[in-house]
Amino acid sequence: MRHTVGALVSFVRRVLGRILRVLGLRPGDLWLEGYRRERWLFQHTLCDRYWLNLNSPLRLLSEHDAEVVEFDLLRFAHAIDKGLYLPERRVGFGRDKIRCILNMLKLLAPSAGGRQRVVTWAVNILRRYARALAKDLETLDIASEKRVELANWLEKLRDALEQFDQLPDVCEGPPSKTGLSDIYFKRRSVRCWKDEDVDNSVLRTLVEAALWAPSSCNRQPYKFLFIRDAKVKRMVLDVATGGRGFADMAPVVLLLLVDVRAYYSPSERHLAYIDAALASQNLALAACELGLGTVWLNCAVEDFAKEDELRGELRIPRWYALVGAMAIGWPLDDTRYEPSVRRSVDDVIVFERFA
Ligand SMILES: Cc1cc2nc3c(=O)[nH]c(=O)nc-3n(C[C@H](O)[C@H](O)[C@H](O)COP(=O)(O)O)c2cc1C
Repeated sequence: MRHTVGALVSFVRRVLGRILRVLGLRPGDLWLEGYRRERWLFQHTLCDRYWLNLNSPLRLLSEHDAEVVEFDLLRFAHAIDKGLYLPERRVGFGRDKIRCILNMLKLLAPSAGGRQRVVTWAVNILRRYARALAKDLETLDIASEKRVELANWLEKLRDALEQFDQLPDVCEGPPSKTGLSDIYFKRRSVRCWKDEDVDNSVLRTLVEAALWAPSSCNRQPYKFLFIRDAKVKRMVLDVATGGRGFADMAPVVLLLLVDVRAYYSPSERHLAYIDAALASQNLALAACELGLGTVWLNCAVEDFAKEDELRGELRIPRWYALVGAMAIGWPLDDTRYEPSVRRSVDDVIVFERFA
């Protein structure tokens, strides 16, 4: 019976689709074609990342692969950098990640130009990791078997890092003479905050700045939901998992929502995310100007039950897309992180057409 109803519904949809197409209206197709193209585009996220397979031999690097290795190196080294400052970090954490980083460094080290900047940055993170591990081994009470294992690991890491001895221990920072306001270069993601609240009046100022961002057709379809309650913050961080281990400490977590009723067709769905992202960047820059520290927390939801629970708790209407979250607070100090790195302008700029 269910089968027959399903077949009937699909038949009616197909007939309706045909009629609409003949009339020049193609709502169903917009969905389908849009998704098909997205699938076609995003299948490139599944490219062969052989450098992450520790057992496969490293091949000669093509330019195509070099670009992806650089993305992966940025991502992996960033995770180690971040991990170094987590209050509850495991001693000797992220060993597999570091082995992958060493693979990527081997591949990218010979490349010239802007990539050297990223290579130097990543090497410096590993150097700092090695120093932190050495200190942990000196100062912490670690079971003897584990201690031997960690000491061996440290020795291997130090040996591997020797091949990069010629690289400087400071990485090129933001450019100094651009003629631009330094706000673009000063903002950094902050993940350690003072135990001090942020007044609602300050949050209102941030939202004021966010509202003056450009938005498609000036729709400004956002809602900025600020959360202080520890239990609810935890719920947010169960959804925005990238904030685990540190974002609880922020006095305020912002949930960035966008009202999809503002858009007219599925073909506009990306605009919702662009609009919200632009607003959030305005907000982050304004926060930086006021001396606040922010960090974006991505909501790449994998556990939809948790999202539903959060939506229920916060009574978020169904037509709001959950774009992301941001932890906000007064920074504890600004010297705790390896200075951030940026790819070289030459590697991201194209005039007229690709070579
Ligand atoms: C869309 C987006 C999602 C992000 N998600 C996270 C996250 O989940 N956790 C985190 O610690 N940082 C997150 N970040 C912050 C980035 O890691 C950070 O911007 C990047 O490493 C560059 O560092 P900077 O902001 O200090 O220049 C995110 C940033 C963006 C734009």
